Amino acid sequence: MLTAAGVGWTALTLGGTVGVLGVPRLLAPNVTAEPEVLVDIGELAGYAQVSLGTVDERFKRQGFWVVRLPEGLVALSTSCTHLGCLLNWDDRDGRFKCPCHGSGFDLAGVNREGPAPRPLERLRVTVEDGRVIVDGRRRFRGERGEWGHSESMVRLEPSAES
Ligand code: FES
Repeated sequence: MLTAAGVGWTALTLGGTVGVLGVPRLLAPNVTAEPEVLVDIGELAGYAQVSLGTVDERFKRQGFWVVRLPEGLVALSTSCTHLGCLLNWDDRDGRFKCPCHGSGFDLAGVNREGPAPRPLERLRVTVEDGRVIVDGRRRFRGERGEWGHSESMVRLEPSAES
């Protein structure tokens, strides 16, 4: 016969078990893989035609997004600056959103909501023989004033929309 105390202990035990099983999930959240070292993302001429505010998600599995900002092209890390979870692009809200604790980043990578303490990192971008190359070995951090570095962005002429 199950008493009230027995039900309580069973619930407590099950709750504890679920809690213990959940610990590995907390210790190893949905973290982003490190960006590949060198990635050729295509011809510069093609990106010059891309609309402002476009987020190219083709390279997400390689650890970055390519974003067309008014002043040029940046490669934003897909790793949340809170605890490193893999972010998602939310086209409707125009934000990079973190599924772990709710941080949100704007199109430029600036942290706008949630616990993320700093902007997304930008990966080095250069142009070689007319092709845009993203280099995951070199990162630029906005809060350190590094986004002004010439290799944190490929400068583009404003598109017809701007
Ligand atoms: S890891 Fe992104 S908000 Fe915590």
